[in-house]
Amino acid sequence: MTNVRLSGFSMLLNWILLFAALFACGLCLDNGLARTPPMGWLSWIRFGCNIDCVSDPDFCISEKLIMQMADHMAKDGYKDAGYEYVCIDDCWLATERDKNRRLQPDPKRFPRGMKFLADYVHSRGLKLGIYEDFGTKTCGGYPGSEFYLQLDAQTFAEWGIDLLKFDTCHSDAHDNKYGYPAMSMYLNQTGRPILFSCEWPYGELQQNLSSDYGPVRQYCNIWRNDWDVMDDFKNVMGIVGFYGKNNELFMKYSGPGGFFDPDQLIVGGIGMSHYQQRAQMAMWAMFSAPLLMSNDLRDIPEEAKQLLLNKYILSVDQDPLGAMATKVWEFKGLQLWVKPIMPKGSLAIVFFNTNAFGSGSAISSAAGDIGMTDSRGYQVTEVFTGKDLGTFKPDTKLKTRVFTTDAYMIVCKILS
Ligand SMILES: *[C@@H]1O[C@H](CO)[C@@H](O)[C@H](O)[C@H]1NC(C)=O
Ligand SMILES: *[C@@H]1O[C@H](CO)[C@@H](O)[C@H](O)[C@H]1NC(C)=O
Repeated sequence: MTNVRLSGFSMLLNWILLFAALFACGLCLDNGLARTPPMGWLSWIRFGCNIDCVSDPDFCISEKLIMQMADHMAKDGYKDAGYEYVCIDDCWLATERDKNRRLQPDPKRFPRGMKFLADYVHSRGLKLGIYEDFGTKTCGGYPGSEFYLQLDAQTFAEWGIDLLKFDTCHSDAHDNKYGYPAMSMYLNQTGRPILFSCEWPYGELQQNLSSDYGPVRQYCNIWRNDWDVMDDFKNVMGIVGFYGKNNELFMKYSGPGGFFDPDQLIVGGIGMSHYQQRAQMAMWAMFSAPLLMSNDLRDIPEEAKQLLLNKYILSVDQDPLGAMATKVWEFKGLQLWVKPIMPKGSLAIVFFNTNAFGSGSAISSAAGDIGMTDSRGYQVTEVFTGKDLGTFKPDTKLKTRVFTTDAYMIVCKILS
């Protein structure tokens, strides 16, 4: 039996004050976008750099794949739930720029061009994201943007692109602090609002440089700062661990207009159990992370789909404060995370169990010891089932079990 006591209260209070300051785009990129974390779909983890449309036509990076994903996002309920950006990752480009040095898509796989694809995605009420790289080449070896930043920004705007993921391969990360702000400025000068997804701090991490998140937040809407996620729970745990270790620093820079990006959601993937997938979904919502699923929407297990559409989890992720949860406690692989949400005084609480042994951890705790300290009390809902657990006062006992490599998540709305 685990008796949990919260030990980070002064931290919790500090950061509630902080959020009052960030609430209205405190020092964020002023393009009107990402007031809540962006939601959508991204090709990378599921489809990678598969360019073989001859022998693998249904799974290669092509206009057909992107159009099919847009169709499913629009008609299967994802769009209505808030998933909006359909994003192409690496390997869409032709191997050379055109005679005017402009970027061009691979002519066989994107025969009708990117303007056509953007129009198609827009006609479904969705937005189109694209990928480039700040270095001389993309990670997959296609033409990079270094020395062409302004021209490429104009090209993307002319095509009708709505989001740019800007990678950091084949570049010197010492240059990131100049190159990413320059690209941000060129995007702004196009006059088209384009959500800017940066790998600036991730490039610095790879070259063992420290990152200054003030400027990152000022020039980017979302930013990757850790290694790529894989379809594997150990890897998801590693990312959560990294966010836990740097929690006090990161929470200062998350808020409307700018969010940390722990990478794609693998919900609907193959390598993780349903319980591990829901743990990832819960933690990403606690981080106010972008929810960019990388899965095959043509063929997705029903329980994964229900998880992606779970309105309680999505409302925690999309909460207008945009706070990053605090890790307030850890014992034998069981972590307690708390996130302030609106209306003011309300909380989302997650127990994340990283321990893979046995039947999980039994929890028996006074509500006040895990964050519900307000004597007005809370109306508490268990998120995965939508079950109403009733009214909790600080001395009400919460008794539950959190299974191995799973999470337990509740939303606690303050009573007035
Ligand atoms: C460009 O930046 C200005 C000043 O920060 C802002 O008012 C404007 O909305 C931005 N435009 C775009 C398209 O991002
Ligand atoms: C960064 O540090 C790691 C671990 O100390 C080391 O293995 C790696 O080679 C370093 N990378 C660079 C680019 O210095």
